[in-house]
Amino acid sequence: MDTGGVSGLSTSTVGRGEAAAFALPESALIGVGRRPFGIYVHVPFCATRCGYCDFNTYTAGELGTSASPQSWMEGLRRELDLAAQMTGAPAVDTVFVGGGTPSLLGGDGLADVLGAVRSSFGLADGAEVTTESNPESTSPEFFERLLAGGFTRISLGMQSAAQHVLKVLDRTHTPGRAVAAALEARAAGFGHVNLDLIYGTPGERDEDLDLSLDAVLSAGVDHVSAYALIVEDGTALARKVRRGELPAPDDDVLASRYERIDARLAEAGLTWYEVSNWAREDAACQHNLGYWDGGDWWGAGPGAHSHVGGVRWWNVKHPARYADQLAAGSLPVGGSEQLTDEDVHVERVMLTARLRTGLPVAELDDAERRAAERVVADGLLVRAGEHLVLTDRGRLLADAVVRTVLR
Ligand SMILES: C[S@@+](CC[C@H](N)C(=O)[O-])C[C@H]1O[C@@H](n2cnc3c(N)ncnc32)[C@H](O)[C@@H]1O
Ligand code: SF4
Repeated sequence: MDTGGVSGLSTSTVGRGEAAAFALPESALIGVGRRPFGIYVHVPFCATRCGYCDFNTYTAGELGTSASPQSWMEGLRRELDLAAQMTGAPAVDTVFVGGGTPSLLGGDGLADVLGAVRSSFGLADGAEVTTESNPESTSPEFFERLLAGGFTRISLGMQSAAQHVLKVLDRTHTPGRAVAAALEARAAGFGHVNLDLIYGTPGERDEDLDLSLDAVLSAGVDHVSAYALIVEDGTALARKVRRGELPAPDDDVLASRYERIDARLAEAGLTWYEVSNWAREDAACQHNLGYWDGGDWWGAGPGAHSHVGGVRWWNVKHPARYADQLAAGSLPVGGSEQLTDEDVHVERVMLTARLRTGLPVAELDDAERRAAERVVADGLLVRAGEHLVLTDRGRLLADAVVRTVLR
């Protein structure tokens, strides 16, 4: 990963207290505000760490006195103000507060986060405003406060409804809590609620997945994300797999679970719109579509990544360093890169190929078109007008399809 300066940019990686100068070139700012603009806010706190997770998040014990939700919030306000100055403060179309565990901030804390986005940038009419939440740190009052504060969408980390699967994942909520939380969110008035599932956990059986799908469907949500369990290097799960205490997820099992998820969700009116995401009509997550469609977004908070007009950058990861750099008046940028035309092309193929709307044929050069025709002949892509769309079998092999087209 490039952490140095980028031609045309003044970027540096600095130690605590030093001034970093990061500036977007004029070329990146052309058209900002005429394209959809999103804000991602990273909340880097969790009550405990799940053994499979390698996200940039910290428990209170890991942070000690070096950083707190208060120092993070002060840093966030400063970062959003600097971001608004740099970009000309376009009205924000989508906000996504993710983590970590945003719900640890409580309803008032999350309303303050949205208040900070509003006061720096302002929200576009009809903006989509999502927060992730862990089922165990939510309540009816929490959801009511979020709705009153301007949130429009809730995403809950359910993962599974089977007790023994939740245990392997180190989840602290009871099997029924995620569905109860989704029902509470809907009763509070949220029309858009997502449940995240993880499939392929060691020890998960077909009937456990069915139990989870029954639970998801009983919650009446309009969006589901389902992720194959990834054994990330450096996690407690990876150590258990390496020591032979747990088996690694099996590819054939993952494929059959994916097919089961897709069939049951489709039958219930939730259609795939990205390989790992299903939604009712008009309920796709607009913020995530912005990432996949090459949109502009500012990622605020420790370790958050941003993309504006072909420039990508990422913040320093530790909350103490993040807060210190902002207190010193600098953006906490850890590194940046100017995307080349080739980078943009590869990303566009990788991301649009995973969408139900498909990969635009016009995006491909002659050699790539010939490769794509072979993938069509193999039954993994299908032509739909001027786009190439993954078939059901193609979705199971999406990464291989992209590699073949780009080779
Ligand atoms: C990083 S979490 C943040 C939300 C919240 N803290 C939670 O756990 O529900 C977002 C989602 O990423 C998914 N996830 C995280 N690590 C994963 C892994 N190693 N494999 C598959 N999915 C993962 C989980 O479904 C989780 O709900
Ligand atoms: S999965 Fe969610 S709750 Fe678990 S450690 Fe990661 S961010 Fe925290």
